[in-house]
Amino acid sequence: MAFSSQQLLLRPLKAFFRGRTMLVTGASSGIGYDVALTLGGLGASTALVARRRGPLEKLASRIRDTGGKAIVLSTDISRREEVVSAIDHALRELGHIDIVVNSAGTLQPGPVATMEPRQLQRMFEVNVLGTLHTIQAVLPSMRQANSGFIVNIGSLAGRRGAPPLGGYSATKFALVGLTEALRVELFGSGIHVALIMPGPVDTPMLHTGDGAPVQRFREIFYLMPVRWVTWAVIAALTLRLTEVDVPPGAATVEKLAALFPGISDAALAFGTRLWEWAINRPHQLDTN
Ligand SMILES: NC(=O)c1ccc[n+]([C@@H]2O[C@H](COP(=O)([O-])OP(=O)(O)OC[C@H]3O[C@@H](n4cnc5c(N)ncnc54)[C@H](OP(=O)(O)O)[C@@H]3O)[C@@H](O)[C@H]2O)c1
Repeated sequence: MAFSSQQLLLRPLKAFFRGRTMLVTGASSGIGYDVALTLGGLGASTALVARRRGPLEKLASRIRDTGGKAIVLSTDISRREEVVSAIDHALRELGHIDIVVNSAGTLQPGPVATMEPRQLQRMFEVNVLGTLHTIQAVLPSMRQANSGFIVNIGSLAGRRGAPPLGGYSATKFALVGLTEALRVELFGSGIHVALIMPGPVDTPMLHTGDGAPVQRFREIFYLMPVRWVTWAVIAALTLRLTEVDVPPGAATVEKLAALFPGISDAALAFGTRLWEWAINRPHQLDTN
């Protein structure tokens, strides 16, 4: 009997995910949405967490259409009591939670020199504390089971700061530190902790709302398809990888660059000014 290469890949993935239970934060959009849709389609029963119920309900019905199970938990992860109640609900509905993917996040770009402390505070409340609330709410049940997977979506901005992402970068550095320490705390416990480190990805985060200054990213940088990050999550889960860069090797370049901070700063300053020049150039042409 002949198999296509897709079937050859899908079979072991379905075997891995079928019967597993999963909770995804930030499931209403972008990376979280695609991870939940893909893993839900591979057979994982999924709890979908974000604030906006509408997109979560639509995603849940897409997952159910493929024969999967999905529940919607409209939750603001920056509110600890909401997270605790959402996880309780998920545990009651699904029985247990094998996999948590922490994708919820927010980006408010701007220069460090003039940023509003409130903006940085909000990013910490969601990107760091929200993720912490989720991890702490789910850990006791994973410890009881002596198994589980926690996947945190970090960022290449969590290994090197650069404008206009200074504040966001600070939250992702914090998330990376938290994840690395948790990995050591849980070493040998049966609970696997993984960090995904994507560069710029083509999601609403870089297209809408507070992300206006970084919208221009897409005119200069290649925005990776969201599915690349989903594959990184799948690789981290199935191969028990501790850290996956998207694209592969990107964070390694950052780690090497950290050996020469002065040179890296000069290169980034030059790149940033070139970027600002590229942004302003059309306006200059318009006014001529
Ligand atoms: N896009 C990129 O270039 C990129 C690169 C590296 C890393 N990342 C990281 O990847 C993750 C996902 O980002 P994305 O690109 O998929 O962005 P996105 O499309 O804007 O999605 C962000 C998600 O986070 C949820 N969220 C925000 N605040 C929340 C809160 N207080 N409570 C619960 N959910 C909240 C949003 O849902 P609601 O609005 O419905 O609450 C949404 O589902 C983030 O952690 C981001 O930092 C993104």
